[in-house]
Amino acid sequence: SGAITLDPGYKNTGSCESAITFLDGEEGILRYRGYSIEELAEKADFLEVAYLLIFGELPNEAQLQKFNTDILDQSIVNEDMKTVLKGFPETAHPMGVLSSLTSALTAFNPKSVNVDSEEDMYKAIVKILAKFPVLAAWTLRKKNNQAFYNKDTNLGYVESLLKMMFQQDANKTYKLNKTVVNALDKLLILHADHEQNCSTSTVRIVGSSHAGLFASISAGVSALWGPLHGGANQAVIEMLEEIKADGGDTSKFIAKAKDKDDPFRLMGFGHRVYKNFDPRAKIIKKAADEVLGQLGVDDPILEIAKGLEKAALEDQYFIDRKLYPNVDFYSGIIYRAMGIPTEMFTVMFAVGRLPGWIAQWREMRLRKEPIGRPRQVYIGETHRKFKSLENR
Ligand code: CMC
Repeated sequence: SGAITLDPGYKNTGSCESAITFLDGEEGILRYRGYSIEELAEKADFLEVAYLLIFGELPNEAQLQKFNTDILDQSIVNEDMKTVLKGFPETAHPMGVLSSLTSALTAFNPKSVNVDSEEDMYKAIVKILAKFPVLAAWTLRKKNNQAFYNKDTNLGYVESLLKMMFQQDANKTYKLNKTVVNALDKLLILHADHEQNCSTSTVRIVGSSHAGLFASISAGVSALWGPLHGGANQAVIEMLEEIKADGGDTSKFIAKAKDKDDPFRLMGFGHRVYKNFDPRAKIIKKAADEVLGQLGVDDPILEIAKGLEKAALEDQYFIDRKLYPNVDFYSGIIYRAMGIPTEMFTVMFAVGRLPGWIAQWREMRLRKEPIGRPRQVYIGETHRKFKSLENR
């Protein structure tokens, strides 16, 4: 059918109207509900930003308190979920485990599957916001073969996540480090939404069949896992490690990235929309210096990253293609300084992106958007006659 416009990768196709996130790729502007990312990262905390993204306004004190209490009320994860988790091998990648556990939540919360009223939507939203960080922490505990703890309801959203990840035993209180809490809060805010990226589009399209919030989020986690998307934060550190092991010479890796016969790409570089700079990367680069300084961590990989960035930005290949460091380039260095293992980096991204996925799913449902169903241009065989097995 001639009327169909082909646009592989949807580079120029708008899939929806949205009032959540504004992004100007030429100017390097990112705003959530009209508030600049720089200001939110500096002045708001993650739960406020989650509320803002999902409901459209910054919460007042009473609204924030209610939101927090509603989330805390739902923070217990069914004991049988631990049985599901125990069935995985320790070598399982945390993102595969997180996606599976998120999907398994539907089995333990059957009422959260059909969410046609706004009230039922709200219930499903606070449930997933409450349980997702518990599941995220448990993916790390699984890797480390440690006991699974529930949320400490006396702590804030980010603090309790850290405690569930790193608490040593049932009695020991985990000593929170203010620098680590603040840095993680900032990183989560910077990752909280990014309009119609791959995982968010996935959440919207799965949700458009009315599959339910948890199933849609589980699909979003799978989409985020890939190294071209959220998985880049893990891939960046692995690349920097490789450069270090190779003696620290970045030029070899720049040459590899430019070589069209080599599938290697400079991880943490380039973006579909940002063509001048990624405002998140700017904030994170600055934060990396501050956080490592405050924690007294001297990571040789930070210097390698800076050297690699400088070399790439001076190289005609990267200049011509407008390739700049993206959000994932420096984030792993901060996660590492916090003691978070490399395989967990994309899980941290998922915890940050959760409010964005929820906000986009809610907007899609409230606007009663139709089922997502792209068309195609068929290029296969025309009509053929069936050949019986003995004649093939
Ligand atoms: N290293 C080397 N060359 C690159 C890179 C890179 N990182 N990124 C893009 N290019 C080249 C690409 O080969 C192409 O060259 P040519 O025009 O000669 O064929 C040109 O730049 C345009 O790239 P594209 O692949 O058409 O751009 P895209 O919008 O489809 O892809 C991207 C965007 C982010 C997937 C890509 O830049 C990439 O693979 N980057 C590395 C992975 C990464 O860091 N991903 C994280 C993205 S930001 C956060 C997130 O989404 O989670």
